[in-house]
Amino acid sequence: MKVLRSPDELMAYRAGLSGAVGFVPTMGALHKGHLALVKHAKRNQGKVIASIFVNPTQFNDPLDLQSYPRCESADRELLEAAEVDALFMPTAAQMYADGSRYQVAETSQSVDLCGADRPGHFTGVLTVVLKLLNLVRPTHLYLGEKDYQQYQLIKGLVNAFFLNIEVIAVPTVREQDGLAMSSRNRRLSAIDRKTAPKFFQILSSNLSDEVVIKQLIQQGFTVDYVKTIDGRRFGAVQLGTSGRGVRLIDNVRIEP
Ligand code: PAF
Repeated sequence: MKVLRSPDELMAYRAGLSGAVGFVPTMGALHKGHLALVKHAKRNQGKVIASIFVNPTQFNDPLDLQSYPRCESADRELLEAAEVDALFMPTAAQMYADGSRYQVAETSQSVDLCGADRPGHFTGVLTVVLKLLNLVRPTHLYLGEKDYQQYQLIKGLVNAFFLNIEVIAVPTVREQDGLAMSSRNRRLSAIDRKTAPKFFQILSSNLSDEVVIKQLIQQGFTVDYVKTIDGRRFGAVQLGTSGRGVRLIDNVRIEP
């Protein structure tokens, strides 16, 4: 696996490729959910490029950015074993050489759900994703369904800016008890880890959103939102019996 540490190195590598190029953007702290994205990308027969970049502009809370898990050498080993062809690991100074003067904002869907709780979050996501897509120039982009709102917004970005990229949503990978895999899970205390699967269990029940909220609160979650839109129920909660709360998000299709 080639490790590319600057936009120049990545562009030189990309210039030598032809045919299908699958791209898996990540912020590291990799788990089976990320590896499922790589597995889907590998099916395309072409090259697979992954990125690890903890994007500062999508964190509206500096403490959240600071405590975001980072484990570069374990991540590199996992990607190497998954036969990723190249890993792009830029610095913030390289990605934001413009001092963040240029940004990509979506003005409708991005202010609901996670965007309502985390102002500016999706502007940070869309801005960095457009930069990454312009550098990697993938033919296929792989995103996890766990972050469904992010998937919808990135798909919208690709359409709005006429990028010739197929965006593929890969189903959420869950622990045996139903908890959606997430880099943030490793920050859960032992007690909170036991409570956490109830989030998915209650979210996927056929109760109304209002009753789901009540039940989550009863189980000790702080509820940021639970909302059903077009047959999909989205939720975000926090669990925090030890120190700072850990934010969990998930979404499920709800049968009518
Ligand atoms: O889902 C993520 O890990 C990030 O939001 C992404 C898409 C890599 C952009 O920083």
